[in-house]
Amino acid sequence: MNAPPFLQQHAQEVHASLEHVLNKHRSGMPDRLWEAMRYSLLAGGKRIRPVLLMETYRVCGGQAVASIMPAAVGLECVHTYSLIQDDLPCMDDDSLRRGMPTCHCQFDQATALLASDALLTLAFQLLAEAEWPAAVRVELCRRLAIASGGAGMVGGQMLDIEADSQSINNELEIERIHVQKTGALICYACEAGALLAGADETRIEHASRFGRALGLLFQVTDDILDVTSSTDILGKSAGKDQRQQKATYVSILGLSRTQELADEWLAIALEAACQLGDKNGHLTDLAQYVRNREH
Ligand code: IPE
Ligand code: IPE
Ligand code: MG
Ligand code: MG
Ligand code: MG
Repeated sequence: MNAPPFLQQHAQEVHASLEHVLNKHRSGMPDRLWEAMRYSLLAGGKRIRPVLLMETYRVCGGQAVASIMPAAVGLECVHTYSLIQDDLPCMDDDSLRRGMPTCHCQFDQATALLASDALLTLAFQLLAEAEWPAAVRVELCRRLAIASGGAGMVGGQMLDIEADSQSINNELEIERIHVQKTGALICYACEAGALLAGADETRIEHASRFGRALGLLFQVTDDILDVTSSTDILGKSAGKDQRQQKATYVSILGLSRTQELADEWLAIALEAACQLGDKNGHLTDLAQYVRNREH
């Protein structure tokens, strides 16, 4: 399945905003650091997380999409930081990302590490400096810190590194890894969109439920694609989970049960999108795309 047209359109807007933000914050940064940040951020990428934030904002009644771009851009900065570190030799040791050499291959490990650090901190600067009420800025910083930190993405990456396909043998353990390493940031995207739109608690909880289902679905399909797709299509090395004996849904449950599980999580996500009142069907389209994407 190709990306729905609105995703392609918003991805271009996100790309332009990323470029703008990078230029705006260049002053004082060593050229090599800035170039490495730019290289990884603008390499492409589906921009699912920022677009999810934008679409959840709209579904919750938000009408000033341009005003929430700092949150969308900041989220993509955190995601890109996580990818740069995920690819390092001490982590998954990958040489290809978004169809290009990984940051540490294009530059060097120290530069990649520092560029990822600078992307992470830039994200919080963008939130802190945005033109929203102080309470909203603080709440978004708090939620992004939790989602990306030790009990979120970073914690999930730790569990992922500790685990291998032998040490993990049940669905609950693999679910925890996936919920943390990938689900947390995707869930944050949905909650942040709802918060920025001024949604009430019930609505934020519906957005969160949609995000939790979609976040898990996202990593389940990533595991599936690793075995069913090719390096050319993925823009990152296919078949590496098995080569590195990674604990994935596929290694634990097999491909066909994993496909069924992905359909079950899609159904939960679609139901949550419906509850959220997905008027233009964009959240539904995004969930379908996450399940049926080619890369
Ligand atoms: C890849 O994320 C890393 C995972 C969390 C599975 P994406 O598949 O969203 O990567 P890009 O941003 O499109 O490159
Ligand atoms: C990465 O999971 C999750 C992150 C937090 C970056 P993977 O290691 O499976 O992601 P890919 O397959 O390298 O994109
Ligand atoms: Mg990894
Ligand atoms: Mg990886
Ligand atoms: Mg993967």
